[in-house]
Amino acid sequence: MGFEGKVAFVTGGGSGIGAECVRRFADLGAYVVAADINAENVAKVAADAGDNVRGVQMDVTDPDAVAATIADITATEGALHVAVNNAGITGELAPTHELSIEAFRRAIDINLAGVFHGMRAEIPAIINSGGGVIVNTASVAAASGYPYAAAYCASKHGVLGLTRAAGVEYAQAGVRVVAVGPGAIDTPMTRAAPPEVAKAAIEMAPAKRPGRPEEVAAAICFLASPEASFITGSYHAVDGGYLAQ
Ligand SMILES: NC(=O)c1ccc[n+]([C@@H]2O[C@H](COP(=O)([O-])OP(=O)(O)OC[C@H]3O[C@@H](n4cnc5c(N)ncnc54)[C@H](O)[C@@H]3O)[C@@H](O)[C@H]2O)c1
Repeated sequence: MGFEGKVAFVTGGGSGIGAECVRRFADLGAYVVAADINAENVAKVAADAGDNVRGVQMDVTDPDAVAATIADITATEGALHVAVNNAGITGELAPTHELSIEAFRRAIDINLAGVFHGMRAEIPAIINSGGGVIVNTASVAAASGYPYAAAYCASKHGVLGLTRAAGVEYAQAGVRVVAVGPGAIDTPMTRAAPPEVAKAAIEMAPAKRPGRPEEVAAAICFLASPEASFITGSYHAVDGGYLAQ
């Protein structure tokens, strides 16, 4: 896959899909910085993943903290080649007219502004490193409506907009920007959802099973690799056929 000598950065690296990306990039030879708001989880993921992984506590809603983390990576590791903006929350599930203003703002702040804060710091760092790839974790909710999840859907549709705009802008600057759209994946996020919501999400996919975080991480690693050199500005569902219906 060609990650030897490369430096990768993963947000939400302390759990689920992000933790699986951390492990996979490290196994494929990259030096990986895993960031998460949960210091304990990300430290454990980093320690388990080996010597070429470092965990940092970072909140994606804080643009200064994100910029400082990226500046520290380029100062310490000398470069940044791959960034996976993956941190996210489901947030409050409610009929749209009953969704609280606070819950709406929180989902947008973490899931959408958090990705923007990442891209804003990562793009110049990647250009200065000779080029690389940004993979944003969207969702099938970036390309379809999900009942009772208006804020989540809006935030993930926004991630697609950021991805497309930046993909077009930086196509000649050596930075590819893509999004993955997981369907229902078996992670702590889905395990925390009300059982009937999780069950319905699984039943809606033709595969009739939840995806595994490894299956999403595999797609992310492919998209971040030189094998995907002509892929940019695009959205890639990893959803057991959900969006094909
Ligand atoms: N699991 C699914 O079914 C599914 C489906 C579609 C999309 N996604 C997306 O995949 C991504 C990863 O989800 P997951 O299923 O692995 O969930 P997860 O809850 O297992 O992991 C998310 C991680 O993000 C971290 N995080 C939350 N807020 C943060 C913040 N402000 N700053 C930094 N880190 C923060 C959490 O601490 C957690 O470690 C999310 O963006 C999610 O929306 C997941």
